[in-house]
Amino acid sequence: MCGIVGYTGPKNIRDVLIDGLKRLDYRGYDSAGVGVRKEDEIYLQKKKGRIEDLSKEDIPEGKAGIGHTRWATHGKPSDENAHPFVDCRGEIAIVHNGIIDNFNSIKDELIDKGHEFSSETDSEVIVHLLEENNDGDLLEAFKKTVTKISGSYAILALRRDSSELLVTRNQSPMVVGIGEDENLVASDAPALLEHTKNVKYLQDGDIARITGDEIDIWNEDDQLIERKTKKIEWDLEDAEKGGYEHFMLKEIFEQPKAIHESILGRLTNFDEFDLSKYDPNAIQFIACGTSAHAGFVGKYIFEKIAKIPCTLEFSSEYRHSSPSESYPLTILLSQSGETLDTMAAAREANQRGNDTLAITNVLDSSITREVDEVMYTQAGPEIGVAATKTFTTQVVMLYLLAIEMGIKRNVLSKDQADKYRDELRRLPRKVESILNDKEKIRDMTESLAKAEDIFFVGRNINYPVALEGALKLKEIAYIHAAGYPAGELKHGPFALLTENTPVIAIAVKDETFDKMLGNIGEIAARDSPVIVVGDKDKELEKLADDAYFIPDVPPLFSPLLVNVVLQLISYYTAYRLDRDIDKPRNLAKSVTVE
Ligand code: G6P
Repeated sequence: MCGIVGYTGPKNIRDVLIDGLKRLDYRGYDSAGVGVRKEDEIYLQKKKGRIEDLSKEDIPEGKAGIGHTRWATHGKPSDENAHPFVDCRGEIAIVHNGIIDNFNSIKDELIDKGHEFSSETDSEVIVHLLEENNDGDLLEAFKKTVTKISGSYAILALRRDSSELLVTRNQSPMVVGIGEDENLVASDAPALLEHTKNVKYLQDGDIARITGDEIDIWNEDDQLIERKTKKIEWDLEDAEKGGYEHFMLKEIFEQPKAIHESILGRLTNFDEFDLSKYDPNAIQFIACGTSAHAGFVGKYIFEKIAKIPCTLEFSSEYRHSSPSESYPLTILLSQSGETLDTMAAAREANQRGNDTLAITNVLDSSITREVDEVMYTQAGPEIGVAATKTFTTQVVMLYLLAIEMGIKRNVLSKDQADKYRDELRRLPRKVESILNDKEKIRDMTESLAKAEDIFFVGRNINYPVALEGALKLKEIAYIHAAGYPAGELKHGPFALLTENTPVIAIAVKDETFDKMLGNIGEIAARDSPVIVVGDKDKELEKLADDAYFIPDVPPLFSPLLVNVVLQLISYYTAYRLDRDIDKPRNLAKSVTVE
């Protein structure tokens, strides 16, 4: 949440900053702003609204600059609350991502000392504190300032008297991009890809001074250190729309490839980490949002394949639960690897003595440093705020892991494991065949776009998919939607069913199928339009007002296919309503506040 970009070097600064920000705007889009060093002055432009609302042609040439795209926390979206902020003397400008917990007391002190504030944000205290601490050596002032603030932050500072950038992070990502005669910094790799693939990931407490040809990094103990240079595997095209109208649609269509790349190598030789070190008697999935739904599907997968009892907890709730006597394996799922609640949950799980594994899509993301083991989904960058391909690849990783655990625990035969692996190999083709039906699925959404409430119901392993379907629709179409276990509708929500309340029913031929048929009949009897997504069946055809039948697949592997249909349903419903699909209101892609 909040995107930061900085550049020092000879290129046209307005292109670097604006293009970089555009690649980060999934992190927040309440306001945008840039600061550029021009002839020993700091030029500022900042506005409520999108990056496109900035007037690019007014941004002057300069050798160093910083940019910000905001997701509001303290202070509403407005021109005044947009970043960057400058000190009273106009010598320093900063941009910030995160929350400064102790900003109130610092602000009071600074006001007493005569500093004038122009915004309601917590961020502005940073620049005035820098000014206060600056007795000629800005690097020292920066280091001192960091000791005075608490909270989560990534801070980037620009000075008017030199083209160096100063940067630090604590629980908020920051990546330094290494170029030739130029260097960059950004909160996420996609902003750097156009310029370089060589990066250094800053770690909590690091402070870096960046010029066009030097990168100096001090760790939290103030020692000058080297952080390894790593290569980003993503290509620039991965972070572009490539002819699709929205990133979300592109990312939905990338799922066959994402599944393929995530299983590649791992099916024949799982050597991600030494699984034999772990023999848990329980597994705990912890995550937020869509990742939590992937974990919920994982619960069913592990219970079935590896015969291990599982629980799912939301990251934000986990810390407030009572520790149990047992020490389970805790699997934390996070696309970004930066979600603050999930990071906090990882620390709590470690403290409780659990073994911890993170499944994430972002190389070297913060969560990877909090856990015992890491598995990377190979989904490529996901830019659309609503998660699609990363859900799919997270679930794929859980199948892989459950198969390996099932074998290690002697509860899964080699034959059965091979059958499961074959199913995984077949998934990309099956997803592709659903994608080829996109027009058919689009046509099913005409009535949905007129609804004010929509229910999603499923049973067994598809109950979490119903939850995910409802979440996706809420996120991007702004239609109220609720996911339920199909058997629960009659315990309350039935009171809401009318001919204007469509119900999307997931019906696959597992042991719950007959019960599902009964539930669908009950719903239809209340005159609610029923849209079925599931296995082909004559009885279903008779009961449903509309239906999409997925390719043949064992029920255990049906969630991914059903979910792709639900993704397309949400996408086309939102499209009909002309919603801002890639950047839904009030949301951000990675949430680094609690
Ligand atoms: C935000 C995003 C969701 C995402 C959730 C968890 O709310 O808008 O799409 O599912 O964060 O993010 P994570 O990166 O931890 O998977």
